[in-house]
Amino acid sequence: MPAIRAIAPGKVILFGEHAVVYGQPAIAVPVEQVQAQAVALAEPRRPDGFVLVQAPDIGLEAQLEDLPEGDPLATAVRSVLRELNIRNPPACTLRVSSTIPIASGLGSGAAVSVALIRAYASFLGRPLEDARVSALAYEVERLHHGTPSGIDNTVVTYRRPVYFVRGKTVETFYVTTPFTLVIADTGIHSPTAVAVGDVRKGYEADPEQYEALFEAIGRITKEARAAIDSGHTAALGPLMDENHALLVAMGVSSPELDRLAHVALDAGALGSKLSGGGRGGNMIALVENSDAERITQELLDNGAVRTITTMVGDR
Ligand code: PMV
Repeated sequence: MPAIRAIAPGKVILFGEHAVVYGQPAIAVPVEQVQAQAVALAEPRRPDGFVLVQAPDIGLEAQLEDLPEGDPLATAVRSVLRELNIRNPPACTLRVSSTIPIASGLGSGAAVSVALIRAYASFLGRPLEDARVSALAYEVERLHHGTPSGIDNTVVTYRRPVYFVRGKTVETFYVTTPFTLVIADTGIHSPTAVAVGDVRKGYEADPEQYEALFEAIGRITKEARAAIDSGHTAALGPLMDENHALLVAMGVSSPELDRLAHVALDAGALGSKLSGGGRGGNMIALVENSDAERITQELLDNGAVRTITTMVGDR
């Protein structure tokens, strides 16, 4: 049996992080420059039921039965077996790898889950449709951060720009006027669960203030969607700045994120904001294509440890 391979992209949230957990819309787009990959290989010499999971990036090699209940890779594999109602699977090795930086808001956990779920289901001869892949990956996301909105697994599964509202039907959309983003990594690893938990505490302490912040972000996200749909992508810049200011008020930015956001603006970006859980991880800047290289250099000269330039809407 040939090896089965599946890949899944990274992602950034353009608008609406955190507020999306509280029912507001958010927009996320895939970032194809970084990817997770999963390979499933038959092991004809091994007995049925033998499933070896390898993740060389994190030094993991273990049989499925030896991996604990809360292990994210094991959870993804077991969810496929449960979904397909298979008790004694054919022997195989499942190998995952990823070029997506972890704990930086680029969706690495979701992408690994999606690639693994897709590759394994295909290996078992029963490829899953997107909605099921996303639902199974969501269960793994819950291990990473308790109450995820589901936006990461959705955008990574569908590999298209997504206008996401928690609990609503998935809405992917076309970006007819492409625009360029520079993504810059602070190099600070920041687990999403911590920022999400702190926002929860803030919300519980002062529901009115946080409700107002969430609603303001929701309004910005709707305006951004309208700007993208009508091709007025330059209008996204000021909306990103506004969204960033609201995330600062929510307490999920950091001096490093604020600094990179300002550096990008000073260098001529049309707008900038943190992306994802915040506190560390990545910021994104909307740039004219011709300015991307210069702004990238400024960001690297001022503390960014890594940058990615991506065109949204070129697929
Ligand atoms: O996984 P991250 O860091 O991109 O953050 C996800 C976005 C949040 O809105 C902060 C959390 C969520 O579950 O939507």
